Amino acid sequence: MDDPGLLAYKEARLPAAEAPNPLTRIPVDFATERVRDRLAPLAGDDPVIIVLEGVLMYLPDEVVVELGRTFLDLFPHHQLVADVQSPKFRHRYSGPIAQELEKLGAHFADRREHTGALLQRAGYRRIATTSVIARAVDAGTVRIPRWLLATFLRELRDGYAIWQLARAG
Ligand SMILES: C[S@@+](CC[C@H](N)C(=O)[O-])C[C@H]1O[C@@H](n2cnc3c(N)ncnc32)[C@H](O)[C@@H]1O
Repeated sequence: MDDPGLLAYKEARLPAAEAPNPLTRIPVDFATERVRDRLAPLAGDDPVIIVLEGVLMYLPDEVVVELGRTFLDLFPHHQLVADVQSPKFRHRYSGPIAQELEKLGAHFADRREHTGALLQRAGYRRIATTSVIARAVDAGTVRIPRWLLATFLRELRDGYAIWQLARAG
């Protein structure tokens, strides 16, 4: 699922029909359309993994909560994997990238609450956490001393993470 314009761009260059694996592209604007209607034909009891990668920062709080509720209603046996940010991380570290994206027409939503807390409000519990920055340090793509990450840069380490979530309760 992605923005209609983006999917049209991809489809023109990499047609779904020629993909080696089964691929269905579902165009949707998460912020203005009912995702529930688009996903309803796929609803069912099968085990499902839903990945929301690099998307939640663009969506207003209420849209994030409604998206989570929609997934929980339609796919009773799914796990969700999503990157989430704390408001502090957003405030301290996201400014430069947000400004660059703004020039391209992409706008980060205003956010006062942790994205993970919004998903927990939708009805999820967190079952695993991976720090994006610590993972990048481990992979050698970002060079920051580990002791610094564990002390003065804890917000950088913990404020942007991949959460794995499942239905609460
Ligand atoms: C950083 S990219 C993530 C790319 C994507 N996860 C992938 O693996 O190709 C952000 C994506 O969020 C999508 N996006 C942002 N706001 C959206 C919205 N309101 N509705 C649908 N898609 C949106 C953009 O079109 C873009 O593809």
